[in-house]
Amino acid sequence: MSTPVLEARDVSMVFGGLKALKGVTLTLEEGKIVGLIGPNGAGKTTFFNCLTGLYTPTTGEVLLKGNVLHGDPAKVTAAGLARTFQNIRLFPSMTVLENVMVGRHVRMKQGPLASLFHGPAYQRGEKAARERSRELLAFVGLNGVDDELSRNLPYGDQRRLEIARALATDPAVLLLDEPTAGMNPQETEATQQLIFRIRDTGVSVVVIEHDIKFIFGLCDSVSVLVQGELLVEGSPEVVRADPRVIEAYLGKPPEEVQHDVEAAAASVEEEQA
Ligand SMILES: Nc1ncnc2c1ncn2[C@@H]1O[C@H](COP(=O)(O)OP(=O)(O)OP(=O)(O)O)[C@@H](O)[C@H]1O
Ligand SMILES: [Mg+2]
Repeated sequence: MSTPVLEARDVSMVFGGLKALKGVTLTLEEGKIVGLIGPNGAGKTTFFNCLTGLYTPTTGEVLLKGNVLHGDPAKVTAAGLARTFQNIRLFPSMTVLENVMVGRHVRMKQGPLASLFHGPAYQRGEKAARERSRELLAFVGLNGVDDELSRNLPYGDQRRLEIARALATDPAVLLLDEPTAGMNPQETEATQQLIFRIRDTGVSVVVIEHDIKFIFGLCDSVSVLVQGELLVEGSPEVVRADPRVIEAYLGKPPEEVQHDVEAAAASVEEEQA
């Protein structure tokens, strides 16, 4: 079997007395889309923070293309792991194009002297970065807004812009934290198609979402996190049929939920009688 593009081994994260992650293992094969679901506070974002070096896991390690990642978020990005944030983190007073170019600068070769003197090599680099950034904006479906301030974009477009900025770093793996939060059904559908197109360019993806329908329609495999623990992982078919997943989501076993619904209906009938 080939080396997975991303591997998290036994990752734990403790905050004071709170065990936010308890030995979570996740494997992402190249060219795949893996979904990460779980109730609020399950530890999903914390897991992304551990993968990207924002947090140093209490135990465990993260490997990208077989190499162990060491802390530092900037180095992690340069190594090929990019992300978007649950709470959008753009530069609000920069233009749309500038926001993407910030991502592009990770890949630029010029040293500090070139940028100081703004010589020909620097000019060429900037031109190439601008062209690539424009391509990426078109790719994510943001057209004709290059010079708008990013804060003036509608919410859904800001999410798309964050994806373009992440792609500008030429990642091997893209982590998306709730990419459809706050989107209408049409935008959600467009985002699903966008993630398929990203995968088709050779980028492997891990996506956190609460929208189960979106996840099951998108992912090759789904991991379910509950209270910091990996509860189930497998194909969408396997995960959606697992009673533990239904219980984790509804808080009760399906039979009990059914019972509650019937009891509520009966009490309404009684009241009306
Ligand atoms: N920096 C931190 N310091 C202390 N506790 C934290 C920190 N970050 C997260 N936590 C706690 O860790 C737990 C997991 O939080 P996390 O944000 O990872 O959940 P989540 O699965 O992403 O939830 P949601 O679906 O609401 O985004 C929560 O109890 C949260 O309060
Ligand atoms: Mg979260």
